[in-house]
Amino acid sequence: MNEVPSANLNLPDPHEIRVGVGQLLTHLQRVGVEYLPAADPGRAEQWTTTLLASVAQPAPVAAEAASTAASATPEGLGQPAAAAPPATAPPVAAPAAPVAAPPAAAPPAAAPPQPAATPPTAAPQTPPPASRPQPAAAAPGPTIYRTASLPIADRQASLDHWRQQVAQCTLCHELACTRKQTVFGAGHAQARVVFFGEAPGADEDREGIPFVGRAGQLLTKIIEATKLSRDEVYIMNTLKCRPPGNRNPLPDELKNCRPFFEAQLEIIQPEYIVCLGLFAAQSLLQSAPSIGRMRGRFHNYHGSKVVVTYHPSYLLRNAKMKGAVWQDMQMMMRAMGTLPA
Ligand code: URA
Repeated sequence: MNEVPSANLNLPDPHEIRVGVGQLLTHLQRVGVEYLPAADPGRAEQWTTTLLASVAQPAPVAAEAASTAASATPEGLGQPAAAAPPATAPPVAAPAAPVAAPPAAAPPAAAPPQPAATPPTAAPQTPPPASRPQPAAAAPGPTIYRTASLPIADRQASLDHWRQQVAQCTLCHELACTRKQTVFGAGHAQARVVFFGEAPGADEDREGIPFVGRAGQLLTKIIEATKLSRDEVYIMNTLKCRPPGNRNPLPDELKNCRPFFEAQLEIIQPEYIVCLGLFAAQSLLQSAPSIGRMRGRFHNYHGSKVVVTYHPSYLLRNAKMKGAVWQDMQMMMRAMGTLPA
């Protein structure tokens, strides 16, 4: 028998390296780097060594636990802690395509095949300083996004592909018969923040754009209060069709639509996902007892930090809850580094 020598080489998993490189490239794109100068082999080697060393280090469990505890209240966020890359978590399975979806022109992958992720040849010796303070880390989740982060053009192409799939979907017979059109999502393919709602209403069904009615106008104000604009974030719903009479989504409808929002999030891989209302939180996290019990701390979805807050429609009926939503947005802004701690 040829036995493999049992030397503990402690080599990092190639997937983790890919994720690390992908995150670094995304970061470079976000801070505006469009061009990396030609290789300096010495520096490239140093950079690779640094990356491998950081990937091989055990996760800073104690530090993360402390910062998670500190994030229990917005005031408790405290000093921004370095965000630990979720590199030690196992990869997640690809979102399954809807079983009975009509045949697609292209294979319904969550994202197109990945270009081989190669480290930039002349990248800095250490990861570049963040343009913003690093966020406090959310509790590390059991999974991370399956695919490496994509360049923006590929993200756009993938989202367009899925938009077409959604437009043809007839899995929920009643919704497919009553909708005017599907409402896929809108915003920036490289958004730091995704706002995740429940389902289109009459206005959205008519316009094909999420959150354009009264609740949408309030959401726009909430987004702007976080010093972002609708164009900078991505807005989408758990259901892509309007339930007739704005009734609650049915369990089968949520199940049928799930692969679509999973694919969108896999492509965008946002740093933050804001769940608006209980249906959004339950769909995303697959368990959510109540908004009240989920607020005030970050949850995890494949490495994205998840904020759970009240739906704007609820705020239209209960204006006194606006303060709670503002607290939730401030918690996120502190973590993003856009509001002083
Ligand atoms: N409510 C939602 O949850 N989504 C919309 O797009 C509009 C209203």
